[in-house]
Amino acid sequence: MPVLSEAEGSAQIIDGRAIAAQVRAEVAERARKLAEHGVIPGLAFVLAGENPSSISYVRSKGDAAEDAGIFSETFHFSDSISQEQLISRIIDVEEDSRFHAVLVQLPLPPNLDESAVVNAIDPTMDVDGITAVNLGRLLRGEPCPHPATPAGVVELLHRTGNPPEGKHVVVCGRSNIVGKPLAAILMQKNPRANATVTICHTATPNLADFTRQADILVAAMGSPAAITADMVKPGAVVIDVGNNWVPDPSRKSGRRLVGDVDFEGVSAVAGAITPVPGGVGPMTVAMLLSNTVALAESSLA
Ligand code: GUN
Repeated sequence: MPVLSEAEGSAQIIDGRAIAAQVRAEVAERARKLAEHGVIPGLAFVLAGENPSSISYVRSKGDAAEDAGIFSETFHFSDSISQEQLISRIIDVEEDSRFHAVLVQLPLPPNLDESAVVNAIDPTMDVDGITAVNLGRLLRGEPCPHPATPAGVVELLHRTGNPPEGKHVVVCGRSNIVGKPLAAILMQKNPRANATVTICHTATPNLADFTRQADILVAAMGSPAAITADMVKPGAVVIDVGNNWVPDPSRKSGRRLVGDVDFEGVSAVAGAITPVPGGVGPMTVAMLLSNTVALAESSLA
């Protein structure tokens, strides 16, 4: 399956769906091997409130899990659940031997303290790798689950022949779930990483002065068309983590998914680029499944 194709400009388009399909097939094979040992990998989704995007993401992650031979169940609570009740239910789920992994879908309703809830997850079941313990391990270069979106970005780079070693990677965005862990992964001293990493954020003056230095530019700002052609070095690899719904009256749904990169303009300058949809998004799901199977495998060890 080709994972790169020629864009209208000069950039190759990185086919995240095709690469995610490869990863998912590998995960399914690992799940099949576990089943031979009597272990069905189990993933519990914890969802609070009625955020339509969150409900839809959890449903599609659950479907992808089933396709890969992973058992999953969603525990959906009302947005009036108290923090103490939610934490207590997470502990109940962790004690259920069917599950090896727990994902608390973010964002949480505003009455809940996200840090307190996330840090209540047992680090050995933290499939997103976002507890303080696991992010600390990640920064130290110790084994831990890598958050799925950053792990997906790294996998895309390797599987398209763009390894980050020796490259200047500029990450625009400093979230706990994408920007910070991606920087932590890529700066590690190992052959899959070994990048020079710059993090830019909303308080970075003259953003383009930094982005133009990037061999690999990662846009994770949550702002449509924030990266334009003049901000990109010719030939750079551009990875668009943006996931923004914008109004589009020409669509039946009235909206359209776009990234953080002006795709049309940037694809004329970049060497390779991920589209939205069909770039990083499918990789996030694939890496979540991979992390789930890895936690189930470690239960056998
Ligand atoms: N909300 C948006 N992306 C993610 C993710 O990767 N994990 C979790 N838990 N919540 C999210």
